[in-house]
Amino acid sequence: MEKTVKSGKLILAAGLMAAPLAAPAADMPDWIKMPTYDCKACHAIDHKLVGPAWQDVANKYKGDAKAEAMLMQKVKKGGKGNWDKVTGGVAMPPHPNISDADLKKVLDFELSLAK
Ligand code: HEC
Repeated sequence: MEKTVKSGKLILAAGLMAAPLAAPAADMPDWIKMPTYDCKACHAIDHKLVGPAWQDVANKYKGDAKAEAMLMQKVKKGGKGNWDKVTGGVAMPPHPNISDADLKKVLDFELSLAK
């Protein structure tokens, strides 16, 4: 008689993929493309879509320690005014459903794009 050994569980240690630091920052990382975020509908890393390029946003607020808190509110509540010259006065819609933690993660990424 043959005995089949069943392994109880197959544990896949997927882990967190390290961000490819060397790659050109031309595209948003996959986690920002999750349905939770609609950012990519209006933003790209290095060119304007409906909203300003995230690199431009990062450059604008470079060195401003208070920027992230302000931008959290801005993304949550939506609004316009800071990029009218780029967007022609289009407003960003509010994002009330993204948690502070998730939003901070996105903005950390965004603000890291400053050149
Ligand atoms: C429907 C289009 C749209 C979507 C979706 C969108 N944005 Fe925007 N975003 C804009 C526009 C338009 C502006 C310019 C606002 C202004 O002139 O102040 C903007 C501006 C910004 C700014 C700069 C704000 C400032 O005051 O300088 C940040 C940061 C930003 N968006 C982040 C995000 C993030 C993060 C998401 C996803 C959670 C997102 N946006 C989704 C259209 C959008």
